[in-house]
Amino acid sequence: MSPEGCSFEITHTDLAGRIGRLSVNGRTVTTPALMPVVNPNLLSLPGALTPAEMRSDMGFEMIITNSYIIRKGKELKDRALSMGLHDLLDFDGVIMTDSGTFQSYVYGSGDREVEVDPLEIVEFQRDIGSDIGTILDRFTPPDVGYEDALAYLNTTMERAGASVPHKGEMELAIPVQGGVHMDLRTRSGAAVRELGAAYAPIGGVVPLLESYSYARLVDVIVAAKKGLGPAMPAHLFGAGHPMVLPLASALGCDLFDSASYAKFAADGRYMTQDRTLHIEDMEELPCPCPVCSRNDAKDLRSMSGSLRTAAISRHNLWVLGSIMASIRTAIREGTLWELVERSGATNPSMASAVRKLSDHTDYIEREAPRSTRRFMCVSDHSLDRPEFTRTANDLAERIPPAQKAFTHFIREPGASHRPHVEGSARAVHVAGGAVAVITPLGAIPYAVWEMYPFSQLVISEVDSLPPAMRSLYDSAMSSLGPDVCDLDEADIVNAAGREEFDRFKAALMTRMQFGSYEGRGADDILFGGSPDRIELVRSRRTGKLRNVKLPSRGGEHVLSLRAQDGLFSLKWKGAQLLHASTGGGYMRVIVEDGTGEFNAKGYNVFNKFVLDADPGIRAGDEVLVVDREDGLYAVGKAVVGAAAMIDAKAGIAVKVREGRDKALPDEAS
Ligand code: GUN
Ligand code: ZN
Repeated sequence: MSPEGCSFEITHTDLAGRIGRLSVNGRTVTTPALMPVVNPNLLSLPGALTPAEMRSDMGFEMIITNSYIIRKGKELKDRALSMGLHDLLDFDGVIMTDSGTFQSYVYGSGDREVEVDPLEIVEFQRDIGSDIGTILDRFTPPDVGYEDALAYLNTTMERAGASVPHKGEMELAIPVQGGVHMDLRTRSGAAVRELGAAYAPIGGVVPLLESYSYARLVDVIVAAKKGLGPAMPAHLFGAGHPMVLPLASALGCDLFDSASYAKFAADGRYMTQDRTLHIEDMEELPCPCPVCSRNDAKDLRSMSGSLRTAAISRHNLWVLGSIMASIRTAIREGTLWELVERSGATNPSMASAVRKLSDHTDYIEREAPRSTRRFMCVSDHSLDRPEFTRTANDLAERIPPAQKAFTHFIREPGASHRPHVEGSARAVHVAGGAVAVITPLGAIPYAVWEMYPFSQLVISEVDSLPPAMRSLYDSAMSSLGPDVCDLDEADIVNAAGREEFDRFKAALMTRMQFGSYEGRGADDILFGGSPDRIELVRSRRTGKLRNVKLPSRGGEHVLSLRAQDGLFSLKWKGAQLLHASTGGGYMRVIVEDGTGEFNAKGYNVFNKFVLDADPGIRAGDEVLVVDREDGLYAVGKAVVGAAAMIDAKAGIAVKVREGRDKALPDEAS
């Protein structure tokens, strides 16, 4: 990749959040990231926290400063122009600059003091060597009516268009505006994307944050993101409040900026993960950062003005940095929902914002990965997780009613029956059929119990279920009728033998994971509708199912079961069989002519070569890599969902497991 320009690669996803690598002018930032706001006028105060320290000691890779403020002071302006911004601030990471939009909004654009020329300010940012400069957008607060918001949006887009020829090598940030008019937010996002921007702030949200209108903020972010698409790095302008960071990250915001760490510090306000305390009221410092390990509350209070502000600023920024690290860790682990749910417990406005996510399940589901490492159900909010909707739809569409019960595997219930599965999930025997009852989803077939999300579910005992889950559990139980009794796994083994049941189970799991094409299930395609044609390979140590082979085809290996999520990986032979009997884009990632040959040799598929993809593909799915003529080159695992791989210009779309010319040795991966 060339060191110039701006690119964004998504490497992990969780909910609509993602881990990204933003590269600008050869410098890279791992996102979600928070940019400390740097006020260059305050850097010379005694003890001031410097950008160099933010980078070397605290790990901040990107900062933001205000070009309007730099330009206003004659001396600062001249130094910035002669030294360049990176030397002026002594920071060798990515530097973004803002334009003065916010000052015009706060002090009024009629104020002669804040008069800014839209093109001059872009040229100035370019001339001082900003990595990402911001156009002079028209700030649109929530109380602006539709007509005015539309007019402001037009002004913003006119200025954006006019600014492009003046940007030079600098990347241009074009903020999404539109106030609280959701169609305008989406339109604005789409317009920014169409202008070819590589970086998009979502603007005009500060008043929502200041009035704790977090539920509104959720709607605004989703509407803007729908216009921007999944591939664009999105920056939530002016949001550095600890509590909103997990929520906004979960909706796909990648960058944040915070001036609050310094502003709060100037007022003696000390940040914690979920609120701020006043240093005057504090007995102890509940934080392990360098400032708080070397000082106690009394030490901080006894410091003189600017030293005290600097010390609390340092602490506040450590807190924000550690929240960002927790968010990134959660995304990599697949536990971001837990973090969001916890932030909902901090205050009523956050609670209503977390509830608001259920209005956007479709949006979140499209971005969310197929499986995560664990799935904690801690409160009724967990019911809003996208996995529930997705799995309920899959169960309804993919598993035929006749296969939901499987009488012939079950012997008559005996006298003592130990529940087979844990927590409030119960495997039960119902008037001739066996189902695993699982709280929030009603009754699910016992045969798919080991698949994600069921396999990962951590849920409490029936008596201590949260109320909404309890009532779903009760209605699932009553829907099964009165003759329900617990099922021991031995019941199954004794009736038909483990082998026969497991073959049936492997077929049903195949159907649940891969669905069907024109009414023909993937199990039918792979096994000819007859589980007898399946050969199972078990782990010698644990006895658990590992591989599925086809004895009728010389024992060819078609599927491997992944221990971590109970889902299959598709082997080359399995891919060929599914490919040969399907079409119409099913499971396909279509790549540009000529590039498939590389995938055939085992090289990964890059987003920039993806022409189209099955809209049902989610991150973590098994996919077939084909060309325009539907020639099959490789099988692998999607790194991002269909929309992102079509949209993105950088990053990996599919990790190729096996290619036509290079089949790897048998292994679960
Ligand atoms: N800072 C906070 N909000 C905004 C915004 O909407 N636009 C710009 N340019 N800067 C901001
Ligand atoms: Zn601290």
